[in-house]
Amino acid sequence: MKRTLVLAAHPNLRESKINRAWLERLAGEEKVTIHDLYAEYPDFRIHVEKEQELAASHERLVFQFPFYWYSSPAILKEWQDAVLTYGWAYGSAGKALHGKEFMLALSTGGPEEAYGEGGYNRYPIGELLRPFQAMANLTGMTFLPPFLLHGVRTLSDEQIRASAEALAARLSE
Ligand SMILES: Cc1cc2nc3c(=O)[nH]c(=O)nc-3n(C[C@H](O)[C@H](O)[C@H](O)COP(=O)(O)O)c2cc1C
Repeated sequence: MKRTLVLAAHPNLRESKINRAWLERLAGEEKVTIHDLYAEYPDFRIHVEKEQELAASHERLVFQFPFYWYSSPAILKEWQDAVLTYGWAYGSAGKALHGKEFMLALSTGGPEEAYGEGGYNRYPIGELLRPFQAMANLTGMTFLPPFLLHGVRTLSDEQIRASAEALAARLSE
């Protein structure tokens, strides 16, 4: 079984700084498979069996994305809706993902304090990410601490590079 599957979801990677830098760095990691969902499914017609096979053949799943409207870009929701079927991902016979690890890797425009006590986003990021945690719980996966990069608009190239290194280090664990 392979180690880590990164399900990457950025609708416009050409204009991306953070997620593109992360993917370019992770491309060099032997134990990481990168799967660019928008490139694979520009029409959102997800190949369910192919995705289930890919997910089942890895020990750890990672959703990597820019935070959009307090959630992921739409294709990751579509991926969950289409791929995590009853009898495969959940239900008494649905154990395909049991025992795997699940991690989020996301960048946010809002600075860390915007998600803190009294911040303009009002809710801590951990609360906003609960649906992903609940999905991991229901499908029997261990929810690892998310990899977060906040306040991305003001980061230097060096800080972006360092974050890519840190993500690669997390995923080589
Ligand atoms: C449609 C859209 C929605 C966004 N929603 C949020 C949001 O809810 N919270 C936030 O902190 N940043 C939000 N942002 C900012 C993005 O998270 C930020 O631009 C992205 O993480 C940068 O990553 P990239 O360089 O890979 O594009 C949003 C950006 C767009 C385009």
